[in-house]
Amino acid sequence: MRFTIVAVAASLIAVASAALPKYDFKPDGPCVEACTLKTGKELFANFTHDQSSPYWLQSLAFDHDRTHPKYRDMMMGAGMCMGACPKAEQDLYRAQFQAKTVWYQDALKASK
Ligand SMILES: *[C@@H]1O[C@H](CO)[C@@H](O)[C@H](O)[C@H]1NC(C)=O
Repeated sequence: MRFTIVAVAASLIAVASAALPKYDFKPDGPCVEACTLKTGKELFANFTHDQSSPYWLQSLAFDHDRTHPKYRDMMMGAGMCMGACPKAEQDLYRAQFQAKTVWYQDALKASK
């Protein structure tokens, strides 16, 4: 009996995490990535780009949730830093930004 409950709970958890859509974006490039990581870590010690980290969604909130108290600081800091990055990286970052925001909002709903 107990085993059955555990097994059912485990399969529900599996379904919940499988419901997270695939984060199917091109890598930002080393310069832009370094900027977002550096700025993020200044604002939140556990900021991460690691998708397997429990802090990943929380980290995405800094650049994809406009209501986040640190959203402005993140955008300003990362934006200033990125100004020195290769144009191709900046263009890619901008090109993917909106779709990443949509992904973040869906993932957030799926994680609740
Ligand atoms: C950062 O991560 C550590 C280790 O997982 C945890 O103990 C700490 O509470 C985290 N800090 C914040 C602000 O989430």
